[in-house]
Amino acid sequence: MGMLKSSLAFLVLAFAFFLCFIMSTGSYVYFQFVQQWPPTTCRLSSKPSNQHRPLQRFTIHGLWPSNYSNPRKPSNCNGSPHMRSKLKISWPDVESGNDTRFWEGEWNKHGTCSEERLNQMQYFERSHDIWMSYNITKILKNASIIPSATQKWTYSDIVSPIKTATGRTPLLRCKQDKKTQLLHLHEVVFCFEYNALKQIDCNRTAGCGNQQAISFQ
Ligand SMILES: *[C@@H]1O[C@H](CO)[C@@H](O)[C@H](O)[C@H]1NC(C)=O
Ligand SMILES: *[C@@H]1O[C@H](CO)[C@@H](O)[C@H](O)[C@H]1NC(C)=O
Ligand SMILES: *[C@@H]1O[C@H](CO)[C@@H](O)[C@H](O)[C@H]1NC(C)=O
Ligand SMILES: *[C@@H]1O[C@H](CO)[C@@H](O)[C@H](O)[C@H]1NC(C)=O
Ligand SMILES: *[C@@H]1O[C@H](CO)[C@@H](O)[C@H](O)[C@H]1NC(C)=O
Repeated sequence: MGMLKSSLAFLVLAFAFFLCFIMSTGSYVYFQFVQQWPPTTCRLSSKPSNQHRPLQRFTIHGLWPSNYSNPRKPSNCNGSPHMRSKLKISWPDVESGNDTRFWEGEWNKHGTCSEERLNQMQYFERSHDIWMSYNITKILKNASIIPSATQKWTYSDIVSPIKTATGRTPLLRCKQDKKTQLLHLHEVVFCFEYNALKQIDCNRTAGCGNQQAISFQ
């Protein structure tokens, strides 16, 4: 009985510390590291197609400080722009070809929200390192998931090999083609804890709809 009481007290204390921690860590709780499949971005882009770069490899969309109650926020905090040459490979602007502007936008909108943890240099370096650590294009290829105009996959077909390779559950994001109704695989999200060092499971919030056939092309 005493045991039970003290472990209960411990839990209450731990929870209180957890709350304090969350409240003291500013405006985000975890990171979403978002990688996009450029052909889908370009196919469903509203930007002029003469600048499109439908590269056949997953590239970085962004590293987003996130919050469970409001997964797309915070954003639009203030900060200064910065650029690095290796990002030309991992983080190109596949929609309008101006890489600098894309990085500037991602930094201003998302990076500045975690500036107390990662300064601008660290933010971009960390993003590039995460991109380098797991090659999604390769993981999918190894699981025979290769771009196809005809074949369809389920959500778990695509998630499983990534989960096996990384040991963590990713989140998939899709885009629907309004004309054909086809659901296209668009982005793969990895989640990281507050420091952007340890990968954690993403919990499925939006994603790609339930039980729908997903196209990867
Ligand atoms: C999550 O976001 C909401 C709305 O943006 C904000 O009010 C809240 O303080 C945030 N919570 C945490 C734990 O950061
Ligand atoms: C790209 O964007 C940057 C930053 O917004 C801007 O200064 C530059 O002029 C743009 N380059 C081109 C070629 O449009
Ligand atoms: C990722 O894998 C693809 C497919 O195997 C390969 O073409 C590409 O070079 C790899 N990228 C990196 C950065 O290793
Ligand atoms: C490649 O696929 C094999 C069998 O399908 C699997 O055992 C292995 O872990 C995969 N390797 C990578 C790097 O995903
Ligand atoms: C996602 O997981 C976190 C951590 O386990 C939890 O606090 C949060 O309530 C979950 N959010 C949703 C929408 O399930």
